Amino acid sequence: MMIEDFIRDAHYKPNDYMAYHVARELAELHPGSTIVEGSTHHFDLEEFVRAQKCAIVEKKSVFHHVRTDWVSSGRLKQHIRNSWLNILWNGQLLDVVLITWTESCYPRRQYWIVADAPDLAESFFNAVCEWNCEVRGEILVYHDGYFEKDKTLFNSIKTSTFDNLVLQGSLKKEIQNDFTQFFASREVYERYGIPWKRGAVFIGPPGNGKTHTLKALINHLGKPCLYVRSFKAEYGTEQENMAEVFQRARMAPCLVVLEDLDSMIDDTNRSCFLNELDGFQSNSGVAVLATTNHPEKLDASILDRPSRFDRKYYFNLPAEAERLAYIRNWNAELQTDLQLSEKGATRIVSATDGFSFAYLKELFVASMVKWMSDGRSTSMDDVLLAQTDLLRDQMKIRKRK
Ligand SMILES: Nc1ncnc2c1ncn2[C@@H]1O[C@H](COP(=O)(O)OP(=O)(O)OP(=O)(O)O)[C@@H](O)[C@H]1O
Ligand SMILES: [Mg+2]
Repeated sequence: MMIEDFIRDAHYKPNDYMAYHVARELAELHPGSTIVEGSTHHFDLEEFVRAQKCAIVEKKSVFHHVRTDWVSSGRLKQHIRNSWLNILWNGQLLDVVLITWTESCYPRRQYWIVADAPDLAESFFNAVCEWNCEVRGEILVYHDGYFEKDKTLFNSIKTSTFDNLVLQGSLKKEIQNDFTQFFASREVYERYGIPWKRGAVFIGPPGNGKTHTLKALINHLGKPCLYVRSFKAEYGTEQENMAEVFQRARMAPCLVVLEDLDSMIDDTNRSCFLNELDGFQSNSGVAVLATTNHPEKLDASILDRPSRFDRKYYFNLPAEAERLAYIRNWNAELQTDLQLSEKGATRIVSATDGFSFAYLKELFVASMVKWMSDGRSTSMDDVLLAQTDLLRDQMKIRKRK
């Protein structure tokens, strides 16, 4: 058997026979060597090479087959589909054969690591998988049954802070301290035999800072973050996916974020969720942060049982003091000719009872646009008051619907 034709010949074999055929041929070509074979997606060799953790010394197959995906403008990502590579890792040489074929309509990539000693093959395999499991400078997003590292989301979260967040009383400090202390107190928890895990739900009507606080907290804590968009997937059950998410989270310390928890949990998956959250398996170092607009839709077993979600933080509509603080923050950022007078700010505060922070934000944005399109002649006080009435009508119409 020629190495050059090895992969082409393997592709002629039926799917059921392919893996056995390749392993057997490799064993015959390399008697006495160890072969580690599998298909876990954690074995992302390309990422390991890109990070210069190992180097491709030689492409042994006659054709090095690569697929190129377009990620975003100027960003391409290459995946090796079929190749036989000689790899240098930690001063030692080993071979990796990668073959991709279609199984049940999906591409399946399998690897065979060939090394002189079992230790070498296994520790290389372990090093590649461990490296790919670490979360560095990205958010690990779970969606449609798989994980994806999202650098763009991470970068957008990096700009989120508590500075421009207005919360009632000491809420901001409480949330910050709660999780900062949690991650700093592993030894204390262990000394007193308390499971080192934490959960909190952010509860409140739309647009009052739950997501903003989550982002600021993720940024502030600097811990790996696993963001679950949904447990649903085209393939695989929600129960399996919940198990997969928590399994991954147990490589703690980390944050697990579940936005709109009420839409993720129902009668069919609740018991599985509770098991993962607070069952036999230890979730040491895992902090779960959830949000909801509809606490009434969440079962008492989730909401009213400490050790699952230990704390509930409420994000209510802003009262006068918060509205004034928010308006002052905006005013401080505006250019002088766009700023509200102190009297105007007081009038807007009383005219915006029932507005969420998101509506207050919209009030400023819409007013600035209006002020500019009106030729910058009207005073901002008047524009803001007129826009307040418009938005209030809009809110009433929405409520009636
Ligand atoms: N307390 C706040 N202080 C300052 N800005 C806020 C506050 N609450 C909300 N905002 C601003 O309003 C917008 C919407 O806020 P956010 O997404 O955090 O709301 P939410 O509570 O998560 O709403 P939803 O329940 O609809 O997801 C964001 O631009 C955010 O910065
Ligand atoms: Mg939100």
